[in-house]
Amino acid sequence: MEQEDDHTEAPFERVAEIYEQLLVPALFGQWAAPVAEVAAIREGQRVLDVACGTGALARTVAQRVGPAGAVSAVDINPAMLAVARKLGPRSVDWREGTAEALPYGEGEFDVVVSQFGLMLFPDPEAALREMLRVLVPGGRLAVAVFDSLDHQPAYATMVDTYSRVVGDAIGQALRSPFALGDTEALAACFAGAGVDNAVITSREGVARFPDVSTMVLSDVRGWFPFAQIRLDDQAIDAVTREAESALAAFTGPDGAVEFPLPAHIVTAVKA
Ligand SMILES: C[S@@+](CC[C@H](N)C(=O)[O-])C[C@H]1O[C@@H](n2cnc3c(N)ncnc32)[C@H](O)[C@@H]1O
Repeated sequence: MEQEDDHTEAPFERVAEIYEQLLVPALFGQWAAPVAEVAAIREGQRVLDVACGTGALARTVAQRVGPAGAVSAVDINPAMLAVARKLGPRSVDWREGTAEALPYGEGEFDVVVSQFGLMLFPDPEAALREMLRVLVPGGRLAVAVFDSLDHQPAYATMVDTYSRVVGDAIGQALRSPFALGDTEALAACFAGAGVDNAVITSREGVARFPDVSTMVLSDVRGWFPFAQIRLDDQAIDAVTREAESALAAFTGPDGAVEFPLPAHIVTAVKA
């Protein structure tokens, strides 16, 4: 792994913009509607989105609750929140904070949702306990995580490619988004947090990138810098060349890359 020179380093807000421009349409945006659906969000409800990122889920939720409802959204990363605030809507209360110590009082929300954050939190059980704390009794929780790397052949290929071309440390970092994909580990995490009625529903999304180069750049420029991973242009070119052949099975005649993207949505009700 190599360090970029400081003068070429993108400021974090630019990284968050690239996340929104490349990763949200390719991977994350498609999950907002199904998560809001299984959370059974209705007009007028008070809803919290935990690890809101640039706001894909909070925005969908705001439409569902309408003007009579209220949406709060929290994330640890001020750069993600800066982009979220720019995109709006202004009716959402965008707030900086950690999932393990949510900046809200007990029982403030009818529904708590979260997509693709839980597996990245240092203490996911503490985060789930916090989500329960801020829910009203009878309130609903819906949390999405990616399925395990065993069921993500394209990303398993990318982990191998980065490990071979750049080094194993980056390969390990790429595994983290899939760390709670095993349904037994996921169920154990919810049970460990005292959630005894969790139901896991598995769904298959579709990842779509216009080409392999965009897929590589979306990671390299759209989230690696948040994980203190910086690749120089030579490493990016080498990964892209390797990935073009490694991902051939998922690449169409026009160069577009498309592959299944399975995830789990866990729902529970606060007793
Ligand atoms: C993969 S992104 C998902 C963002 C958004 N939910 C979406 O679907 O686009 C993961 C998000 O989790 C946030 N995050 C990571 N650790 C966190 C923590 N401990 N507390 C709150 N947010 C955290 C990151 O800043 C990032 O915005």
